[in-house]
Amino acid sequence: MRVLGIETSCDETAAAVVTEGGEVLSDVVRSQVALHAPYGGVVPEVAARDHARAVVPVVREALSRAGVTLAELDGVAVTSRPGLAGALLVGLQAAKGLAWAAGKPLVGVDHLVGHLLAVFLRRDGAPAPEALPAFPYVALLASGGHTAIYRVDGPSVGAIRELGATRDDAAGEAFDKVAKLLGLGYPGGPVVDRLAAGGDAAAAAEAVPALTARKESLEFSFSGIKSAVARHVARRGRPEGQALHDLCAAFQGAVVDALVQKTVRAARAEGIARVVLAGGVAANRGLRATMAAACARRDVALFVPPFASCTDNGAMIAYAGALRLAAGERDALDLAPETRTALPRVTRKGGGAR
Ligand code: KG4
Ligand code: ZN
Repeated sequence: MRVLGIETSCDETAAAVVTEGGEVLSDVVRSQVALHAPYGGVVPEVAARDHARAVVPVVREALSRAGVTLAELDGVAVTSRPGLAGALLVGLQAAKGLAWAAGKPLVGVDHLVGHLLAVFLRRDGAPAPEALPAFPYVALLASGGHTAIYRVDGPSVGAIRELGATRDDAAGEAFDKVAKLLGLGYPGGPVVDRLAAGGDAAAAAEAVPALTARKESLEFSFSGIKSAVARHVARRGRPEGQALHDLCAAFQGAVVDALVQKTVRAARAEGIARVVLAGGVAANRGLRATMAAACARRDVALFVPPFASCTDNGAMIAYAGALRLAAGERDALDLAPETRTALPRVTRKGGGAR
């Protein structure tokens, strides 16, 4: 089965052709990062317009790189939720048009389910199938829009349970906001990651509160640390040189410690010895190293997909859609965008340190 996947939920226009075995035949991602950079974050209206410009050429390129015609596809998958409504709508209209014109089945995919299954994508140089995780596993999904820990018992919405999520900012959002405060540009995660490598977290510890006071909770809160950095900058000005490295190291260390401790705690509580990373923040070198060490200490197997599978992409949508199609599921052409995920939430948004 060969499925076209289209993703336009946020600031990447992406399309890919993937088999139901996870083999990536093509994966085209056109980032809007440069368009949004002057604003320090994604502007919904700008995103929707640019998706409208880009979606047809991106889909065309995905088909041509895969060497597949529309007629040879077995279905069209598209991100239908969660995301920016106007942005989602562009991908949905494109997918519906193609599915209708070519007489192919259409399936909507929850973007978060796509991220949680991206570990199974088989790209050049990716691990052999026997090196992939078995169900169930515990997954940490940390991106610019979402941060949560899930128990994944299977590939469908009904088999995925949120164990804890952020009460306020997503981890990537915290990286981006702190980078903005420090004048480091957007997106901030990669820059902070690089600067943190040359820093001493202990030297800036007083500027950054620890995030793991409530050790038993699986919920995150990242807004306090952002405010602490803002107060530090207001008091002392933007740090430069070594002080900038140190502050980045302290901030990243606090975020990473919270992500790692809660993920490992969740795995232990569920009695599951497999942990999967997902989302753009999984690119963070501090997170990868600290998570690897914590898992090794506890005999937990850690699965970290390649970077292209962690950040937003069409391949994860095509794959999750292929599994829906293989299960005999279809969506009608009146499929509508939803701004919220279909995965049940257990974490209350807002209020108070965790
Ligand atoms: O998954 P993704 O590409 O898009 C969303 O769905 O949000 O994640 C992007 C987020 C941004 O907030 C970016 O700053 C963060 O991932 N990010 C990182 C790193 N690379 C990307 N955060 C920390 N360290 C990194 N190396
Ligand atoms: Zn995403």
